[in-house]
Formats: sequence, C-alpha cells, structure tokens
Amino acid sequence: MDNIASTGHTASTGDTDKGHSLARFVSELEAAGGLERISRPVSLRAVAALSEERERAVLLENVAGATMPLLVNAMATRQCWAVALGVPEDEIRAEISRRSERIGLGVERVPTGPVKERILLGDEVDLTTLPAHVHHELDGGPYITASMDVTRRAGGFNLGMRRLMIRGPRQTGVDVVAPTDLRSQYRAARQRGERFPIAFVVGCHPLDFLASQLPVPVEDEYEVMSALRGTPVPVVACETVPLEVPADAEIVLEGYLDGDWSEVEGPFGEYTGCYGMPHQNPVFHLSAMTSRAEPIFETATIGGLRLAHTDTALLSALTTEFSLWEAVRRSVARPRAVYCPPAATGLHHARIAIEVRDHGDARNALLAALGSRANIKHAVVVDEDIDITDDELVEWAVATRFQADRDAVVIGGMRTLPLDPSLPPRDAVATTGG
Ligand SMILES: Cc1cc2nc3c(=O)[nH]c(=O)nc-3n(C[C@H](O)[C@H](O)[C@H](O)COP(=O)(O)O)c2cc1C
Repeated sequence: MDNIASTGHTASTGDTDKGHSLARFVSELEAAGGLERISRPVSLRAVAALSEERERAVLLENVAGATMPLLVNAMATRQCWAVALGVPEDEIRAEISRRSERIGLGVERVPTGPVKERILLGDEVDLTTLPAHVHHELDGGPYITASMDVTRRAGGFNLGMRRLMIRGPRQTGVDVVAPTDLRSQYRAARQRGERFPIAFVVGCHPLDFLASQLPVPVEDEYEVMSALRGTPVPVVACETVPLEVPADAEIVLEGYLDGDWSEVEGPFGEYTGCYGMPHQNPVFHLSAMTSRAEPIFETATIGGLRLAHTDTALLSALTTEFSLWEAVRRSVARPRAVYCPPAATGLHHARIAIEVRDHGDARNALLAALGSRANIKHAVVVDEDIDITDDELVEWAVATRFQADRDAVVIGGMRTLPLDPSLPPRDAVATTGG
C-alpha cells in the first residue's frame, strides 16, 4: 500500500501503539457485526451516496484510484460507541462521564511512533492522492472531514475538529468562522503578526475524536484524550511545526494557517442537513504529511438526508448528553436519563427523564438543560417510566401527559449555534466573519 510513498524518510517506529488504534477498533466493530467490508471497486463519486444508504460503518477496501482503504460512518451508531468504550449501549453516557474524571494522567512523550512510518516533506506532499470525496452534490470541492486540529496554547494543546476543503496538493480551505477556541487563538496570533502552526490528525480511534469535542475545562485537551483512553496518550513531535500529535494516529497533516478570512470556502452540506453558503475563511498551507505505512483514510459523515446515521450527529449527541447530564444532575434530586436524538443534529434537542421528588422538578430540569454548556433549543422532560431513546414512547408521553398552555416554557434570547437555518439572517451573520 503505497499511496503515501516511501521517500527515504521512513523511520522505525518502536512499540508505542499499545493496541489503541483505528485498525483495532475496526476489527472489534466488525466482530460485533457493526461494520460492512466492501472489496469490490467503488468510485470516489459513489462514496457519499453509499455511506448515506448504510446504517453501519463501511470499510471500502478498493476505492478506484486510491491506494488506501476508506472508512466511513465509524462513529455513526450507538453500537460504534459501545464497542469503542467496551460497555453496553445503555451505559455509554455514564462511561464517558466516569472516564472524563480521570484528568491528570498527562501524556507520554515518545521519540517516534506508527504515524512516522511514512514522512513526506514540502513538495513531496500531495493531498490529491488521498481518497477524499465530495460529500454533497453542491459542495465546493472534495473535503477531508475526520480531521482533528491540534494547536498550542498557554498550558497545553487545543483540540477540535475542522473540515478541510482540498484546494490543491498542499493547500486547503478550513472553516474557522464559528466562535471557537481555535478562532480566538488564530485571531490573536494574526494581531500579534505571528505565524499560526497547526496539525490535523486524519483518522484515529473514536475516543480521540470525542476528546476533541467534550467540554471538559482543562488547559491541555490531551488530558481529556488520556482520560478517555485511561492511559497517557503517546505523543510525538511534528516534523515541521512546534506541535505534538498522537503517535498512533493514521495520518497527520502539518502546516500553518494564513489569511484574514479572505478566501472562499464552501458551500458545504452542513451538520444541519442544509447547505451553508460559501464562507470567507483562512487557508491551511501544508508543510508535511506523515502516516502509518498502511493507513486507513477516514471520512466523518456530515449532514445529508439522514442525520441520524452520520458520524457528526452521533459525536454531537454524546457531547451534548455529557453537558446535559452534568447540568440536570445538579438541578433535581432524582435524574434518571438524558438523550439527544441524532435526527435533530445531536445538538439541538434534548430528552430528559426524571423521577419527580419535589413539585417543580420538571421545570428546574428544563431550565438546567437550556442553561447548560450545550446549545439546546428544545428540551422535553418526561417521567422515569418513559424510555427516552424510544421515539414512540416519547410521542405517546407528549400526546397524553402534556398541555402546552400549562406545561410549555418558552425563553428567548439565549445562546445558539449560528448555522441554525431557522435563525433570522441577521443573527446568523452577526457571528460570522473575522
Ligand atoms: C465532524 C466534525 C466536523 C466539524 N467541523 C467544524 C468546522 O469545520 N468548523 C468549526 O468551527 N467547527 C467544526 N466542528 C465543531 C468543532 O470541532 C467543535 O465546536 C469544537 O469543540 C471546537 O473546538 P475549540 O473551541 O477548542 O476550537 C466540527 C465537529 C465535528 C464533529
């Protein structure tokens, strides 16, 4: 497998893997019946439709023109997360909360690792050799989406996920429009006139992606990754930028961001299932690409017609449930469960089951949800006899136990996500741009 060619920079890697790898997760998911392997040739153009039709993870072993396998939907079901965490599906939320408390493990600095088996520098890098595909018909180009950004900040590293629109062999668009830590850091660096080094991990174990999304208040977000793994993450120095990346990742793209929100990125079929207009964004310039000798290229599915079956909605649901549970358990005596349906993006809708101990508990739980760290638009509170993962039971409870004039609470003017297409246009515009 030589898409990322050996160039004489190939290094011996040592044994830092310790079994935590995307390949191992793929095997475990397949053994649990959660992954379909397709070995017949599949055109890159067919990948988006194929992944939208499937409700399981798919490993495409023979993508026409590519020399590495392509993995899609590897985080798109609760089963994927149950396998990643090694617990039954109904214990996923509790297990994430439990693991997130193990802050303080630190990282293990290693001299090299599997992600250094192939090293391409400068002009040797060619992004167009990767099996990145067009995700939705009207997208501005092929996108890399299973891409976790690593940047340095006071006290450690910031992690997030940002889509990358391929613009050429060593250049991509990157969406830094929404109010995030990355955007604040980049703006501050521009104001100081400094270069802004960044690395993108493309393809890794689902828990590593989850670490980049969970709102745990720490300076060094590698602490969250170590906590979720239960062992210090082995990190290795980048080749061309002063950053450190997980040594057991699949592919790492190194480089720097440039530009004052001046280059067109998009349009893109957003996580809401609607197209986002082209954004003005910075540009990512690549200086190196390192990888395993036989990497798996991963795509995180976003948007489209069936949000409930996308990686992004599931990642978002778990992240929102994490914040939601933290808020609800502090507001009522007997919280029972929280659930965020991925069909509603995983970010916007919350269901909460409580055992009412005191009069008013339901409203307290509702306000806790809306006031939590998550960006919830609509929340429903039901009694503990309702299984909130069951759409039919929730519909029944709302139909038979709820009177809008008595039970609904409407609060305006709260924080929201700027890409919500039901916002008045001016509100959406107010939070975009540089
Ligand atoms: C698959 C996926 C892709 C994402 N792409 C973007 C993106 O392109 N731009 C963005 O601002 N946020 C994106 N997000 C959301 C951010 O990763 C998320 O808000 C993160 O917590 C931001 O981290 P930060 O505040 O530390 O920068 C994406 C999330 C997922 C799950």
